[in-house]
Amino acid sequence: MSKIETVVDWLLSSNKTVVLTGAGMSTESGVPDFRSASGWWTKTDPQKVATVDALKTDYPLFHEFYSMRIQLLEKCAPHKGHYILADWEKKGVLHHLATQNVDGFHLQAGNKNVDELHGSIYTFRCHSCGRSAAKEAFLAMESCAYCNGRLRPNVVLFGEMLPEKAWMSALSNIQRADVVIVIGTSLEVYPVNQLPMMTKGKKVYINKEIASHATYFDCILEGKAKEVLLEINEQLEKRR
Ligand code: APR
Repeated sequence: MSKIETVVDWLLSSNKTVVLTGAGMSTESGVPDFRSASGWWTKTDPQKVATVDALKTDYPLFHEFYSMRIQLLEKCAPHKGHYILADWEKKGVLHHLATQNVDGFHLQAGNKNVDELHGSIYTFRCHSCGRSAAKEAFLAMESCAYCNGRLRPNVVLFGEMLPEKAWMSALSNIQRADVVIVIGTSLEVYPVNQLPMMTKGKKVYINKEIASHATYFDCILEGKAKEVLLEINEQLEKRR
């Protein structure tokens, strides 16, 4: 049996399938990932743009980085792979999805049960008083209307805690899963990189480059997210 057929077998006999995605899920939509040769962190030092310290000590650079990502996302959209995952949820093949991505593409594609573990780049708040702010105010580099503090997108910066509700939801769903499919992540960032090991179920890894530490997966599919999901979906449709 091919690996694809094995995964289809697991999906069809699973009562609870959870998908965990990373930036590699969105590169076929034109959104760079972080650690690949063309990734953001090969061009920009994350400590200089994606930390609270960066927000405090070099706000213009922090602001420029996130404004650029926001404007890029306006030109990008979910791809067929995102829509397959949304379709799987509708058909009861997929039961829950957790993502490290702040691009909102899973929600845009129609998934309902989504944990955004690193927040969202579409909503904004004041870093000082926590009050919400408008996208336009952030892009215009305005200060908080209430306390004059600095505005920021609701993404999790390095060193910050993950949103508790999303984390607890992802953890409990993965712990109770029969099948966990991890797609498009280097699994280098803690604590999300621990999640796949929290399940007793079958672990599947779909990634363009297979990280050396990914030894604990039951099935590894080396390839592009959209292409591999199309292959699995084709087989699945034949068997359903
Ligand atoms: N299909 C499958 N895998 C892909 C594709 C693709 N089309 N494109 C890239 N990849 C793989 C890369 O080979 C890489 O292993 O996706 C992985 C992306 O890894 P990272 O760039 O490290 O992104 P991610 O794991 O999501 O990063 C985690 O780090 O920078 C922070 O907060 C940021 O959420 C992010 C977190």
